[in-house]
Amino acid sequence: MGGAGEKILAAACAGTSGLPYIGCMELHRLGRTSLGVSRLGLGLAALGRPGYINLGHAQDLHQDYDVAAMEARCHAVLDAAWELGIRYFDAARSYGRAEAFLSSWLASRRIAPRSVAIGSKWGYTYTAGWQVEADTHEVKDHSVAVVQRQAGESRELLGSHLGLHQIHSATLESGVLDNQGVLTELARLRESGIAIGLSLSGPNQADVLRRAIDITVGGQRLFDAVQATWNLLEPSAGIALKEAHDAGMGVIVKEALANGRLTPRNTDSAFEAKRRLLEATAARLQTSMDALALAAVLAQPWADVVLSGAATAEQLRCNATALEVGWDEEAGKRLITLAESPRDYWATRGAMRWN
Ligand SMILES: NC(=O)c1ccc[n+]([C@@H]2O[C@H](COP(=O)([O-])OP(=O)(O)OC[C@H]3O[C@@H](n4cnc5c(N)ncnc54)[C@H](OP(=O)(O)O)[C@@H]3O)[C@@H](O)[C@H]2O)c1
Repeated sequence: MGGAGEKILAAACAGTSGLPYIGCMELHRLGRTSLGVSRLGLGLAALGRPGYINLGHAQDLHQDYDVAAMEARCHAVLDAAWELGIRYFDAARSYGRAEAFLSSWLASRRIAPRSVAIGSKWGYTYTAGWQVEADTHEVKDHSVAVVQRQAGESRELLGSHLGLHQIHSATLESGVLDNQGVLTELARLRESGIAIGLSLSGPNQADVLRRAIDITVGGQRLFDAVQATWNLLEPSAGIALKEAHDAGMGVIVKEALANGRLTPRNTDSAFEAKRRLLEATAARLQTSMDALALAAVLAQPWADVVLSGAATAEQLRCNATALEVGWDEEAGKRLITLAESPRDYWATRGAMRWN
């Protein structure tokens, strides 16, 4: 990364060490795919639509939901990501206009397909009608018809930039991993040159992942990558994610900040003791709470890409200082005590308000 980016990162987050950025954003290969990815990625869930569950979403967007304003904001965050050296971007059909905003950014900045890695997801259809509050924000359907339709839609918008296509929130109950029609369709997409992945959600992420690792079509393992939640409050999928990494799958981590619960935005009195521990550790390591929580994920050797879900360029620059944090054994030992039971964690997440 060049000098301008270094200065941006060093100056990004008040209260950090002020150490110069030392260039941790080299590209590496995502598992056995041909995709070159940066350690930090950017997810567009908070940038593509008016409503999302992250704690201060409405505040971040200044409640301005004009399509052109939202597109300009998304482009500004993508510009900041590019300057920081971020080269993995994550979207989904259900993130409102995220793919369209990404597409117009790629075209206007003349970004060549092989200079960036882009993943999207199929399986949920956006139904909120550009409203913050809706009866149903997205409809889940993991059928062959939906993978065929949405793969076509994603390709139409992203063209040859689309490098990774993922099942959105695969679960055992949805039956998607037993649906031979879907698996055959995914293998067909894979033959056309797109890597295939799945994202996970809920307390049984590890079980679903272990099932996915074993799936083969025509004698070849189907899944090239997994995107899962791992953070200081919900680390339960860690061992399975290491197994996936050891088996050659690319591992992308989402919700590293627990949808904003691991940032100063979380003022819930029930979280007070945990917050104090996070703040004390952040102070000792001369960093911010969000950068500390992201550094905890970056410290996992199996995590190929850690997604920032930043809704503003300022948040993203602050998140990126995680790459400078001097994570140590003491931080690991102390912060492991923050973990919640997976059932409690996912119940809390399920109750987060769209805003
Ligand atoms: N099932 C799936 O496949 C799935 C599910 C979820 C996410 N994802 C992917 O993962 C990406 C990341 O997930 P996520 O958005 O939930 O990420 P997250 O990293 O857990 O949370 C990001 C949120 O944290 C808050 N934040 C970040 N930095 C901050 C700072 N410095 N100060 C205060 N608040 C700060 C912001 O929320 P507020 O300011 O709004 O509080 C931001 O939107 C998504 O964009 C998406 O691409 C995939």
